[in-house]
Amino acid sequence: MELIRSIQEMHRKAADARRSDRRIALVPTMGALHEGHVALIRKAREEGAAVVVSLYVNPAQFGPSEDFKKYPRDLEADQRVCARENADVIFAPTDEEMYPGGLWLEEGWGRVQTAVPSPIRGLQYSTFVLESVLAKRLEGERRPNHFRGVCTVVAKLLHIVQPDLAMFGQKDYQQLKVVERMVRDLHFPVEIVPVPTVREQDGLALSSRNQYLDPIDRAQATILWKALNVAQDMFNAAETNAHRLEAAMLRTIELAPSARLDYAEIARPETLAPVHDVRRGDVALIAAYVGKTRLIDNLIL
Ligand code: PAJ
Repeated sequence: MELIRSIQEMHRKAADARRSDRRIALVPTMGALHEGHVALIRKAREEGAAVVVSLYVNPAQFGPSEDFKKYPRDLEADQRVCARENADVIFAPTDEEMYPGGLWLEEGWGRVQTAVPSPIRGLQYSTFVLESVLAKRLEGERRPNHFRGVCTVVAKLLHIVQPDLAMFGQKDYQQLKVVERMVRDLHFPVEIVPVPTVREQDGLALSSRNQYLDPIDRAQATILWKALNVAQDMFNAAETNAHRLEAAMLRTIELAPSARLDYAEIARPETLAPVHDVRRGDVALIAAYVGKTRLIDNLIL
């Protein structure tokens, strides 16, 4: 397995692989790899492709009060996981290469956040990719510019690696749909492959942010999965009023003293449009704080 840090070298490597007729699968991650990421790598291997795992904590997708600085980073542990799973290449670019000129993020209300490296006024990085419909809902409403950051970095990675396939987890359902839409709209010649959510025994969806949970919060973090299953059970019992399912999810979250609901909504699977009458295949999406940690999860009904 090869560790590549420069964009030029990654480009060259990908060009070589394409000449050998081997398909390339990209697994984009922010590192701190866990069994959810491993499921993406395994899926890529099953497709018989050469597997490139990207590790990059993308500053452009974090809000000013979010956890960019404290986001877990452990290249050595990630390398061990990738080697064990027979990935072919790790691509771990630097901030300087990904955001030439430095990143200067202007938030709403005139607030300015600078991220690494220090931006050079007038020469700062200034090109972004914006999906303008799906990205405004749900996470996008609470995390302005989050999906702008995601689309921008995913577009960059697709340009750099030029994969035939790119794997995305259903854990981040809205992200998956936003990326699919961007790829369609901008004609990226790549197949986006969705991978089912990997969960702990008790139902908690694996996430790098689960590391932030102390034992008490960890025990209560299963409440998101429980709330989604309450909605599923009601729907199975022929309740199709979305408002009632959403209210039941809220009541379930309130059972956990450390938890505070951010949103619980039923949406159409492709458009993420809000739903009144729930149909099979609609998706229940939930976001909640458990202690100080913000968790998301979803379930297709
Ligand atoms: P990250 O949170 O590291 O997740 C990388 C990929 O792993 C995403 O496609 C995510 O949906 C998937 N994933 C995470 N937890 C999972 C789980 N429990 N089961 C299945 N898949 C899971 O998502 C990002 O990074 C970034 O936004 C990125 C796409 C890399 C752009 O920076």
